Amino acid sequence: MSKIDPGRYRPKTLAVRAGQVRSAEGEHSELLFATSSYVFRNAAEAAARFSGDQPGNIYSRFTNPTVRVFEERLAAMEGGERCIATASGMSAILSTCMALLKAGDHIVASRSIFGTTVGLLNNVLSKFGLSTTFVDLADYTAWESAIRPETRLLFLETPSNPLTEIADIRRLADLAHARGCLLVVDNCFCTPVLQQPFSLGADLVIHSATKYLDGQGRCIGGAVIGGRERLEDIFAFLRTAGPTMSPFNAWVFLKGLETLPVRMETHCKNAQQVAEWLEGQPRIERVYYPGLNSHPQHELAARQQSGYGGIVSFIVKGGRAAAWRLIDSTQLFSITANLGDTKSTITHPATTTHHRLTDEQRAEAGIVEGLIRLSVGHEDVEDLKADLAAGLSA
Ligand SMILES: Cc1ncc(COP(=O)(O)O)c(C=O)c1O
Repeated sequence: MSKIDPGRYRPKTLAVRAGQVRSAEGEHSELLFATSSYVFRNAAEAAARFSGDQPGNIYSRFTNPTVRVFEERLAAMEGGERCIATASGMSAILSTCMALLKAGDHIVASRSIFGTTVGLLNNVLSKFGLSTTFVDLADYTAWESAIRPETRLLFLETPSNPLTEIADIRRLADLAHARGCLLVVDNCFCTPVLQQPFSLGADLVIHSATKYLDGQGRCIGGAVIGGRERLEDIFAFLRTAGPTMSPFNAWVFLKGLETLPVRMETHCKNAQQVAEWLEGQPRIERVYYPGLNSHPQHELAARQQSGYGGIVSFIVKGGRAAAWRLIDSTQLFSITANLGDTKSTITHPATTTHHRLTDEQRAEAGIVEGLIRLSVGHEDVEDLKADLAAGLSA
């Protein structure tokens, strides 16, 4: 079977079919190439591979056929030229920065990004001469005035974690390009099923495959998608430094991509119902979900996304004590910081995903003590509401 032409097919077809090359065995499912290295027919062939005169595999730190199928499928789904799979979402961000930036360069990042990404920028990359200014995701003027002559990247997540703020990707891409910068979008919450940042002008898309792309909480992985030339630099970093995706994980993620469109439909449907129900509860101070009319950027989300996603956050009255009581009372929700799973999860961002931020950084990011984040999964939505109702009356 030869590879399908991504330009010919619609997203749901690409999710199931893109990238696969069937071997002479005629297998229906993709092959798992569990091998660290590859054998050459003779010494001359080995030399030709190493010199680059002959294309082909050498060593799975940098190429593996199963990983390649995952990369091609995700690139096709995002509408990007090339994808590089990495060992985790964090190593996708690290590899992008290490490959494309040098000491003295500056990044402007949204304040509302994953806490560990803040740590990477502030505590790790700062040691190598990179500096970052954090701005409010939805404040265009703040992005504009934070850009300096040495700024190279604008970095954001949209919707943000955990407050589901929305960035205007098109507007920020135009700003980035006018000022000679690249726009990098972490598309983890929406996935290519709900949002395609390249169609809005973004230059690079990042994924934590650990989340919705897997969808069943099994493996850690990440990816960077973008133009061929830029990705060649990231590939060179990966080849040398080695934060590579394992073939087994790539195989699991491939199976995840096949069901991603139908899973995202269910996540969106259930999350909308849970969010609407939460909004009517007297013990809830505020609900954050882009699908609610009360969300300040509901219209932008409707324009930019084809669905509102599975993440719902809310503030329970009574601060940390009330939030922890509710979390501990639920029977169905798993208390875990992961998200994007068919199993619904519940977490207290201030003491988990965002605990490494200083009090000041948390306050600036709006991570208050009463805040709870749900990743709404595929259980019956009436059971989920009943579970939260029991927690709220505890
Ligand atoms: C939006 C976002 N980006 C990146 C990451 C990092 O991904 P990983 O845990 O796969 O390293 C996470 C993890 O939670 C995340 O939520």
